[in-house]
Amino acid sequence: MTSPDLPGTHPAWLPPEALRPIGSRRTLVLGDGLLTGTVHDEAARACARYGGHVHRRTRTQPYDLVLALTTAEPLPEPLPGPAQTVLDEFRSTTGPPANTIGGEGYLAARRHGVTTVLADDPAGLLYGLFHVVRLGERAFTEERPTERHAPAMRRRMLDHWDNVDIHPVMGQVERGYAGGSIFWRDGTPRGDPARVRDYGRLLAACAVNAISVNNVNVHATEALLLTDRLGDVAAIADLLRPYGIRIHLSVSFASPVTLGRLPTADPLDEDVRTWWADVTERVYDTIPDFGGYVVKADSEGQPGPFTYGRDHADGANLLAEALEPFGGVVHWRAFVYNHRQDWRDRSTDRARAAHDHFAPLDGRFRDNVILQVKHGPIDFQAREPVSPVIAAMPATHLAVELQVTQEYTGQQRHVCYLPPMWREVLDFRPWGPDGPAVADIAGGASGNGGGLVGVSNVGDDPYWTGHPLAQANLYAFGRLAWAPWTDPAAILDEWIDLTFTPSATRETERLRRTLHTIMDDSWRTYERYTAPLGVGFMVRPGRHYGPDVDGYEYTPWGTYHFADRDGVGVDRTRATGTGFTGQYPPAWSEVYESLDRCPDELLLFFHHVPYGHVLHSGSTVIQHIYDTHFAGAEQAAEAGRRWEEVAGLVDPSLHARVTDLLAEQARCAGEWRDQINTYFFRKSGEPDTRGRRIPR
Ligand code: GCU
Repeated sequence: MTSPDLPGTHPAWLPPEALRPIGSRRTLVLGDGLLTGTVHDEAARACARYGGHVHRRTRTQPYDLVLALTTAEPLPEPLPGPAQTVLDEFRSTTGPPANTIGGEGYLAARRHGVTTVLADDPAGLLYGLFHVVRLGERAFTEERPTERHAPAMRRRMLDHWDNVDIHPVMGQVERGYAGGSIFWRDGTPRGDPARVRDYGRLLAACAVNAISVNNVNVHATEALLLTDRLGDVAAIADLLRPYGIRIHLSVSFASPVTLGRLPTADPLDEDVRTWWADVTERVYDTIPDFGGYVVKADSEGQPGPFTYGRDHADGANLLAEALEPFGGVVHWRAFVYNHRQDWRDRSTDRARAAHDHFAPLDGRFRDNVILQVKHGPIDFQAREPVSPVIAAMPATHLAVELQVTQEYTGQQRHVCYLPPMWREVLDFRPWGPDGPAVADIAGGASGNGGGLVGVSNVGDDPYWTGHPLAQANLYAFGRLAWAPWTDPAAILDEWIDLTFTPSATRETERLRRTLHTIMDDSWRTYERYTAPLGVGFMVRPGRHYGPDVDGYEYTPWGTYHFADRDGVGVDRTRATGTGFTGQYPPAWSEVYESLDRCPDELLLFFHHVPYGHVLHSGSTVIQHIYDTHFAGAEQAAEAGRRWEEVAGLVDPSLHARVTDLLAEQARCAGEWRDQINTYFFRKSGEPDTRGRRIPR
C-alpha cells in the first residue's frame, strides 16, 4: 500500500508488485473468451513491468506457469507435458461424472518445475490466477500436489447501498463511511470507469461474483434505473463483466404504479405481471447477463405486497416469474418488522418478526427466489444470536446477509476486523453438533444455495473503505464466501501479503505482527467497550455512532434493553417472555431458554436478570460490565500505541490516516466506557469491586 507501487490514487491490495512473481516468468495462457483475456492481460501487464513473457500458443520453450481452460475436446493447443500430466492424473483418479473441475473451480499444482492452473470455465481460470498471486514466490519454488479449489457458495454478492441522488438524510451512500459512491455522484453516473474497473479487479481477487448497484431503499431517481436509466446500469455491467461480476438492481415493488402508471402493484394482477415481464425482457435485451432484482418490501417505509393483502411469497414470486425465462433471480429480503412499535407494548418483539413473517411461507417460493436473511434477528449488532429463520426454511433458497459496512461496529473509524464474528455465524449449527452449519445452508446441498451477501463498505475514498484497515473486511468477505472454514488470521495474512508487498515494506514480519495484534481480536475489543452481553442498540439514534444508552429506549424501533434499578435485558423466553427462544430448533431453543445454559455473551439478549446474577465466567453482570468496559477502552488505546511502533514501515500518509483514526477510536471507546459504566452504576448502585473511578 505504498505510493511507488500504486496505480493512481487507489491504494489497495494487488499493487503491481503483488504480481511480480508472475511478471518475471514465462507464462502460457490457453483458452478463449472474455475472462481468459483478462487473465492474459493481467499476466501481460505484470510481464511488461518485470521482464517476463506471456504466450497464447504452445511453443517448445519451457514455461514456469501454465493457465489453461480444459473444456474443449481435444484442446486446440497441446498442453505442455507437466500440465498434461496434472490433467490426466485428475481425470484418471476421479472417473466421470466427477472428472470435471466444476464451475468457477480450478486445479492448481506444480510438477517438474511447471506451475499449472486448469479450469473448466474462464471464471475458474481467473480465480486460479489470483490463487497463484496469493502464493507469490512460493508458487514457483516448490513442487505442489494437485489441489482442487471450488467455491462453497455459488453466489458471492455485495449490495451497495448507494443512492444516485444525494439523499437529504442518508447522503450519497446510505450507511457509507468511505466518502461518496464509486458509481454515482449528484444524480448522475460518476464517470470514473477506471475506478470501477479497479474495483472489479479487487473483487475478482477475492472471488466476489455479483453486486447490486443501488440502495435497497429505492427512491424516485433510483427507481428509474430499471427503465429510463437502464443504460447507466449497463455501463457498469460492461466494466465489471471482464472480472466475472454480474450486476443486480434494487427495485421498488411499487414500480408498476410509479413507473408504469398502472393503478395497482398487486402481485396477482394480470397487468402487473405483464408489466414486470415486459420490463424484465427489456433489461435482458440491454444486459444479457443481468443477475436479477433485490427487493426490500414492507419494511421501513418501502412498498410491498401487504398493501394489497398479499404475502411475501406472492410478492417475490411475481418478480421471480418475470426473471425466470432469463435465468435471473430475485433476492427478497427477510428484514421485515414493525418499525412503529409502542415501547409500552412488551408483547411485540422485533427479534421474532422475520421468522413470524417468513417461516410459514416455506415451500411457497419459486425456485429462483433467494430469501436474503440478515445474520441476526435484529439488525447487524456487534453481538446477536444467529437468525432462527436460517433454520426454519428448508424448502427455500436462503442467502445470509452480513454487513461489511461497519454501521454498528465503529463506522470505519474504529478498527473492527469482522471475520471472527462472521465465522461464528457461518459455523453455527442450528440443529446441534451433528447437523449442518449455517455455511452449509447458505451454500446449499448441491451448491445451489443463496450464498453470502455483504453490504459493501466501499466508497470513493482514496483507501476505498475510509479506514485503510477496513479493506481487510471487504477482502475477507469474498474469501469466506468462497471457503467459509478459512481461519480469519490466515485471511488477514493473505490481505497483508497482497497489500504490503515486500519491496514496499522494510520489515514485513514486524508489520504483520503488529497488524495481527491490532486486528485479530478487534471485534471482541469493540464488543467489550460497547453494549454489554448481547443486549445491543445503545447507540446514538439515527447516526448509530457513539454511546447513548437510552437513545432508543422509548422510541418506536423495537430495540429496548429494559434496564431499571434491579436488572437489565430482554426476556425472550417461552416461559415468561416473548417466546422468541421457541423459534430455534430444540438444540438451541433449550440452551437459550435456560438461564443456566445460555452463553454469557448472549445473556441479556435472551434474559432479564438482576445485576448480581452470576455469569459462567464467575463474575456478576454488573462487575462484568465494569471490567469489560475498562478493558475494552484500554485495548483500544493500546492499539494506537502499537501502531506508533510501525511508523516508517508503511506509507506515511497511510500511517497518519490510521493514527488519526486510532486516536478517535480510543476517544470514543473512553466515552463508551464512561457512559455505560456510569449509567449502570447509577441504576444499580453497585460499586466496582476493584474500586476504579466511575464518573457520576
Ligand atoms: C438498517 C440501516 C438502514 C437500512 C436497513 C436495511 O436498519 O440502519 O439504513 O436501510 O438496515 O437493511 O434495510
